[in-house]
Amino acid sequence: MNNLQDWPEPIVRVQSLSESCLDEVPNRYIKPPLERPSIKSSSSSSSFASDDDVNIPIVDLGGLYGKDDTLRASILGEISIACHDWGFFQVINHGIKPELLDRGREIWREFFHLPMEEKQKYANSPKTYEGYGSRLGVEKGAILDWSDYYFLHYLPLPLKDYNKWPALPSNCREVIDEYGRQVVELCGRLMKVLSINLGLGERRLQDAFGGENIGACLRVNFYPKCPQPELTLGLSSHSDPGGMTLLLPDDQVTGLQVRRGNDWITVKPAPHAFIVNIGDQIQVLSNAIYRSVEHRVIVNSAKERVSLAFFYNPKGDIPIEPLKELVTPERPSLYQAMTFDEYRLFIRTRGPKGKSQVESLKSPR
Ligand code: OGA
Ligand code: NI
Repeated sequence: MNNLQDWPEPIVRVQSLSESCLDEVPNRYIKPPLERPSIKSSSSSSSFASDDDVNIPIVDLGGLYGKDDTLRASILGEISIACHDWGFFQVINHGIKPELLDRGREIWREFFHLPMEEKQKYANSPKTYEGYGSRLGVEKGAILDWSDYYFLHYLPLPLKDYNKWPALPSNCREVIDEYGRQVVELCGRLMKVLSINLGLGERRLQDAFGGENIGACLRVNFYPKCPQPELTLGLSSHSDPGGMTLLLPDDQVTGLQVRRGNDWITVKPAPHAFIVNIGDQIQVLSNAIYRSVEHRVIVNSAKERVSLAFFYNPKGDIPIEPLKELVTPERPSLYQAMTFDEYRLFIRTRGPKGKSQVESLKSPR
């Protein structure tokens, strides 16, 4: 077995494939038929709501810190329902300026449009995943996703290493830094809301994450144009292994799909919203009161897409298991303890594989 030292085969940048104007997707990227995006039928006879009418909940955080207690309670209620029913929601009026969001996204778009030799300076390895990458998982011969990415750490501070962040475009480190600082703060506020909604003290969930010593990292996804989008995926179905994710989607191009039963709902982003989702670690800590939800990304032949996925994670080396307040005789502990450092090795080795990983943590009963 590969001991996560290096990739099992030479890395091909999906962006280079896309720019070489192939008519067909290479075999390496062709998904088995059942995993391919379903082709939309435009039948008008159906009486069911079409995908176009459905969206994940949108929560206005505007009144969260105001004086109106009724409004505050109703915002908490909306988030509670969204966590239970969807595991995914968008937040607007979250307090981070639109200019910083646009600037952050554009800086990364510019990065991916730098010459390949500049980007290659940051080529990553499966040892830490930091830097410029094109696959997740180290299984030789695996079917790959139609995307490149950049991965970096903000927290804990010893892992934050500007040398592993891009130097270009100029000023990008400052923008990336400020973006991270503000998103960490927003995550802290959302953690309090989730904690209260779970019936716990407002700091309980954060404390279970390791207090101030949490992990925070950024995965910037770049989905190039694809000649046959119906045969592949930009990112295969997965749940996020960490605690909570705040995704800044592309402002022009959709692509994220969230699983709802047997359907895949395409997220329609609200302007300057973050898409928030529950990761596996909150599923474990909440003893499955909240569940991480599978999602995937589809690509298209007309437009590339950029997204910034910010992961707010527990400290890497503390055991994560159901909080004792959420374990009762009627609801016994569903999961065995595991550190996040150990847990994240699964996806880093096997790649995105739906929810198989958190399901495998089930306690023997
Ligand atoms: C991820 C992810 C979704 C997107 O990076 O984990 O789910 O829209 N990204 O890029
Ligand atoms: Ni994800």
